[in-house]
Amino acid sequence: MAPKKPITICVINLKGGVGKSTITALLSRYAFNEKKKDVLAIDLDPQANLSQGLLHQGYSTWLTQEGGSIVEVFSGFIPPNGGGGAQPLTADSVTELVLDGGSRKLELIPSRFDFSDALTNAVRPDPKTLARFLSSNFKEKDLIFIDCAPTESVFTTAAYHASDYVLIPVKPEFFATIGFPLLAESLANFKRRNKSHGIEVAGVVINNAFYDGGNNGGPEKQRAMRGILTECQKNGWHIFSKQMYHSRGYPKLMRGDYNYQGDAALFWTFAKEFFARLGI
Ligand SMILES: Nc1ncnc2c1ncn2[C@@H]1O[C@H](COP(=O)(O)OP(=O)(O)OP(=O)(O)O)[C@@H](O)[C@H]1O
Ligand SMILES: [Mg+2]
Repeated sequence: MAPKKPITICVINLKGGVGKSTITALLSRYAFNEKKKDVLAIDLDPQANLSQGLLHQGYSTWLTQEGGSIVEVFSGFIPPNGGGGAQPLTADSVTELVLDGGSRKLELIPSRFDFSDALTNAVRPDPKTLARFLSSNFKEKDLIFIDCAPTESVFTTAAYHASDYVLIPVKPEFFATIGFPLLAESLANFKRRNKSHGIEVAGVVINNAFYDGGNNGGPEKQRAMRGILTECQKNGWHIFSKQMYHSRGYPKLMRGDYNYQGDAALFWTFAKEFFARLGI
């Protein structure tokens, strides 16, 4: 039997600044460049960091062109723009091409800073909208990655509805697991309300970590790691063995500067383990 297509992964932690957008951008690129997959990345955060990390300078150009975005996916139409009235929503009208491989692409549904305003001030969006839109328009994609905002909202539920797997980045520091109980509860609530939904936690990735070598990353890292281990055991969450180390290469990659990568060049070790776990 052909493997199920697409496989959708949301990257989430209800704590900010742990590397969600960085990981979503890099996994999307890795899947396209190394795994030769047809990939869609979705920015569900009004901060639009994923959009900037994939489009780089192209993001400001895109903003001035007032292209379609995740806002239109939820509102369900393309607003009138200089005549012609509102247009029906199409996949093309809300996707931006990031990398073109001919028969396969890396595409992005970008976000805008006014995403939350546009929607929270309007009628409460239907959390199944995104899943429906993806299943009617992106059946041929191999992989879909969704970058989530650090706060829980109807868009978190929208990401769950659309996803097969959840990937949880965590930074091994004081307060590392502060978002874990909230996330565990949010997932449990979702599963209770959607009993036939098979969403699973793929695992927890340790990001922005200092090396274990030498002084073992210091007592703070060790303390944080013990806390992470306890919380993950409690929730039955797998921890990936390959860590992403602290490196100035990561912000550079997000900016589109590929000259110096430092330890960010080791991202592939985690990416390989991640895809192997999902059987991809
Ligand atoms: N391994 C790393 N080494 C060094 N810097 C990193 C690493 N991972 C992420 N960063 C940096 O940390 C900051 C936060 O990363 P990122 O934006 O990916 O996190 P996030 O979880 O998406 O944040 P938010 O909750 O605001 O959406 C960025 O400046 C990013 O470049
Ligand atoms: Mg982010």
